[in-house]
Amino acid sequence: MRILLLSHAFNNLAQRLFVELRERRHDVTVELDINDAVTREAVELAAPDLVIAPFLKRAIAETVWRSVPCFIVHPGIRGDRGPSSLDWAILDSEPTWGVTVLQAEAEMDAGPVWACCEFPMRDAAKSSIYRDEVTEVAVAAVLDAVDRFAEGGFMPQRVDPAAAGVRGRARPAMRQDDRAIDWSSDTTARVLAKIRSGDGNPGVRDRLFDRTVHLYNAKAAAGFEGPPGYVVARSGPAIARATIDGAVWIGHLREPAGEYPFKLPATHVLAREVAGLPVVPVDAPAGFGEIAYREVGDVGMLEFDFYNGAMGAEASRRLLAAYLMATTRPTKVIVLLGGTEFWSNGMDLNLIEAARSPADESWANINALDDLAEAIVRTQSHLTVAALSGNAGAGGVFLARTTDLVWLRNGVVLNPHYKDMGNLFGSELWTYLLARRAGVAAARNVTEARLPMGAAEAVALGLADDSIAGPTRSAFTRAVAARAEALAAEPDWSLRMAGKARLRAADEADKPLALYRAEELEHMRRNFYGFDPSYHVARSNFVREVAKSRTPVTIARHRDRRCLFPRRIAS
Ligand code: COA
Repeated sequence: MRILLLSHAFNNLAQRLFVELRERRHDVTVELDINDAVTREAVELAAPDLVIAPFLKRAIAETVWRSVPCFIVHPGIRGDRGPSSLDWAILDSEPTWGVTVLQAEAEMDAGPVWACCEFPMRDAAKSSIYRDEVTEVAVAAVLDAVDRFAEGGFMPQRVDPAAAGVRGRARPAMRQDDRAIDWSSDTTARVLAKIRSGDGNPGVRDRLFDRTVHLYNAKAAAGFEGPPGYVVARSGPAIARATIDGAVWIGHLREPAGEYPFKLPATHVLAREVAGLPVVPVDAPAGFGEIAYREVGDVGMLEFDFYNGAMGAEASRRLLAAYLMATTRPTKVIVLLGGTEFWSNGMDLNLIEAARSPADESWANINALDDLAEAIVRTQSHLTVAALSGNAGAGGVFLARTTDLVWLRNGVVLNPHYKDMGNLFGSELWTYLLARRAGVAAARNVTEARLPMGAAEAVALGLADDSIAGPTRSAFTRAVAARAEALAAEPDWSLRMAGKARLRAADEADKPLALYRAEELEHMRRNFYGFDPSYHVARSNFVREVAKSRTPVTIARHRDRRCLFPRRIAS
């Protein structure tokens, strides 16, 4: 079928549907929901059989839904309506939640239901549940709905929220007052539920040191006490704030009226205010905890959970130190597990944007990432594996490819390109890694196409070595540990390691790694310090979430003059 994805943003769910529907050989094109006239034009150009809306912030125009069936993906259970479904589900501690695919009609979220699916809820931020459970279930529901639509004969049913057995209901948009924290009476669990209900957006509004800030990236903090509401310690990016029965870590803040009105580490925003507080090392057992190392038999497992997968210079250096420590252990395999939501999204663009010299900070950041990339490529003591349960983008994808083996959870989406960030050239040794793994022509295609890629395509291209089915991320991690242990136990271990050493030596003789790095960094120097400001402009727009004024032609295939989206022939 010809399918037009109409979405407020090309977010992770839209990307995943783009990948899944194309894998099923549908012609898929994308239009961002900018205004009704542009949407109508897109429908005319694309002439779709079906419009699917994975993520909308407003209703579809009547002229559109009357001219073509439009499926809305609503992140709520059957009967649920309103723009804050997941926020309410988290705040109300719902034990299960769901996704409904319904057909657009005049009243929002009230059309007939084509498919729905439920999942058990987890104590986690809204964005985490959206990227994990909601996305998995939404993909299943959309694929069901598409099949039903294609086969014909299915009669979607309208749901009456007042009918017996219907748990969902219409809820209003959640306001800041609904999730405001009362530090004098809210327990740690309640504080966490409130913060998580608004994390990633809009964040819970609060007051800290007489400043209005929004709170993100929170978890329980053990071993602290103090008057409720007081900030009692700091650790890495986070501050610990006392509650009536303990304390919470708050990792990130946004100060809407501040000089940098986007998310930054709490200790960065409140640097002066928290300077004198007791410091707990970030990766100590009582600390905020971003990097953790454990061993399972002969396998060292290194987790690194940086907020939104952003790896600043300091975080990259810390990870390098942890990695080098892992290489000194008497194990055979090191697995780089990344974080639960993202494996890595490369340089921390928010920290760069807030730096006194964004160019200098970019330079420091890319060099720290390159040091890590080089250390992994040069490792001869261990077999290295990158295991991605979460998505990766830009430099994060190539950082994963520095390892000997890359294993992807089945539903992972990769964005192995830098150019969307103002024509950034990129580094992390990608010119070496991509050409060696995928070949020069494929490498050029991957970086030029700027499209999201699913696990199957990544494996076929050589960007990854295997994909592992796992219904949940914890099941994936268990499967990874078992596979890594089996690798370590292989009888021809020394042969494998000798092969690895031979390959590296041959590659080095062909062209030294240092030369690849120097060439990439020369391009990056021009991106950061050169005459063309594109990277700085694109980064500023990205961190400030400046809305797009048009859909990039890479995904709006119906707008591509080279006719990459097959035209409908009039019969
Ligand atoms: N630095 C800082 N924040 C980042 C980031 C980065 N490199 N990459 C992603 N984020 C943040 C986003 O701002 C967003 O923040 P929010 O919680 O306030 O909404 C969150 O992570 C999720 O990103 P989003 O863009 O909404 O996810 P997506 O699934 O739609 O897209 C990417 C994923 C990777 C394609 C997209 O985030 C991206 O292009 N990131 C930048 C990659 C990059 O250019 N890195 C620098 C070069 S190495």
